Amino acid sequence: MNSVLIGAGMALPRKCLKNDELPKELGTSDEWIVQRTGIKQRYIAEEETTSSLATIAARQAINHAGLSPNDIDLIVLATATGDYTFPATAVVVQKELGITNGAAFDVNAVCSGFIYALDIADSYIKLGKSKCALVIGAETFSRIVNWSDRSTCVLFGDGAGAVVLQARNNYGLGIQSCRIYSDGTYTDHLITTGGISTTQTVGYVTMQGREVFKFAVEKFVSAFEELLNYHKMSINDIDLVIPHQANVRIIKKFAEIAKIPEEKILINIDKYANTSAASIPLALNEVKNKFGSIGNTALLSMGSGFTWGYALIRL
Ligand code: ACO
Repeated sequence: MNSVLIGAGMALPRKCLKNDELPKELGTSDEWIVQRTGIKQRYIAEEETTSSLATIAARQAINHAGLSPNDIDLIVLATATGDYTFPATAVVVQKELGITNGAAFDVNAVCSGFIYALDIADSYIKLGKSKCALVIGAETFSRIVNWSDRSTCVLFGDGAGAVVLQARNNYGLGIQSCRIYSDGTYTDHLITTGGISTTQTVGYVTMQGREVFKFAVEKFVSAFEELLNYHKMSINDIDLVIPHQANVRIIKKFAEIAKIPEEKILINIDKYANTSAASIPLALNEVKNKFGSIGNTALLSMGSGFTWGYALIRL
């Protein structure tokens, strides 16, 4: 049994905040942000919530797949910024879609969340436990950044992306491999200042930027090497690389070390900033019109935890 990616969708909040529109008191500039990160703008949720964005993205993905919500028997939603402490945001989306069968739950692996969710859904399909799964990455990080800390607040944006995976027999396309990893030694390098069981608050994002930068490059490189070795492939066999969009300099450094030609790497951080778990499905949505003819697509992620992972999809 293979999990084939047959639909994609996305959603962004209405409000777009360009670098020039950031509060003057932050003491930042368009030039600094573009040069250090590649980010030109981000979308900021106002009336939108993680579930409302996720629901729009999910509907689009289901329509794109030519299915109806009742075909879905599993919803795995990756987020670190869910609507409520409970229930899971996936269940809120399930309700909005009018689905009452199957299971829906959230996964929190922060920026690696989408690959974690994909790995779970792929495993359920390969085990015969799901026939059609919705995998969503949705975040409203603007709600948990410290808007007076210029070293973090400029980096993040809100949004959602969703894909539909369908079980198909003897099919050439689909997920070829998926691997997830974590190393809790680094919990304090990228962490919120609080949480339900510690401060009874949500807290805001803090980050040791340079350490995160180094680790992200290292893990993108090692995960990509592992993917190539596992499949006995070289870079010539890979048609498209979609890395988590954290910083354009991280992506370019990784591409340089891994010798990946620029035209094979999808970069869209300029438009959306770092949308955490939503960044990879937002990128997949950008190429959805070419599904079926793209070829070997490598997805790579790294996030708080630290967590990281990869997937190879024949797309
Ligand atoms: N505007 C202007 N100046 C700034 C800004 C800003 N937005 N942010 C930081 N600075 C200043 C600092 O205050 C510091 O000033 P000082 O020298 O007077 O003290 C100076 O710039 C250098 O600060 P550094 O933190 O050393 O800057 P660095 O070159 O490392 O860039 C950055 C910071 C962009 C965060 C970088 O470390 C980075 O990209 N790290 C990766 C982290 C990342 O991408 N995280 C995203 C989440 S994690 C993930 O998704 C995997």
